[in-house]
Amino acid sequence: MAIQKKKVTANSGRISLLVNGKPVEFEIGSLPHQVDTSHTLAHTLRETLGLTGTKVTCDNGACGSCTVLIDGKAILSCMTLTVECQGGSITTIEGLRNADSGELDPLQQSFIDHTAFQCGFCTPGMILSAKALLNENPSPAEEDVKEALSGNFCRCISHYQVLRAVMAVAGRGGGHV
Ligand code: FES
Ligand code: FES
Repeated sequence: MAIQKKKVTANSGRISLLVNGKPVEFEIGSLPHQVDTSHTLAHTLRETLGLTGTKVTCDNGACGSCTVLIDGKAILSCMTLTVECQGGSITTIEGLRNADSGELDPLQQSFIDHTAFQCGFCTPGMILSAKALLNENPSPAEEDVKEALSGNFCRCISHYQVLRAVMAVAGRGGGHV
């Protein structure tokens, strides 16, 4: 499975991250505006930063719906402590759109074009896992896509359309975030 864990730990009373290209800094502590050492990245993104595009389903590393990118690689944000991400560049589904033109990422557009979702709950994680693959391998084979998405579950059985959507972008420069 392509999803990786990041091991960079904050070493002061503060933690700095780049989230969708914007610098954010938190005090570490247990007050409401602070990041507790027990907070997962999924919790910080959703509850502290309001980036609810990142979905939490199983909350124990089994479904892939909480996948985000750190330094271009896929991680499970429900299994990653925020303090482990010190200095990292995080990309969530909200950050994939081109910030200047507002244009959707080619993968986002391809998911729409191929109707590669039903309820859409797994979709942010699917797209970010696919993005991590294209960052590493811009022209993957179908088997590479299946392997990269093997940790992303879809209860609506949209996997066939997802595969088509990702393959439509493969080889067209859909990586590099
Ligand atoms: S919510 Fe993180 S893997 Fe399921
Ligand atoms: S589209 Fe519903 S879980 Fe995947």
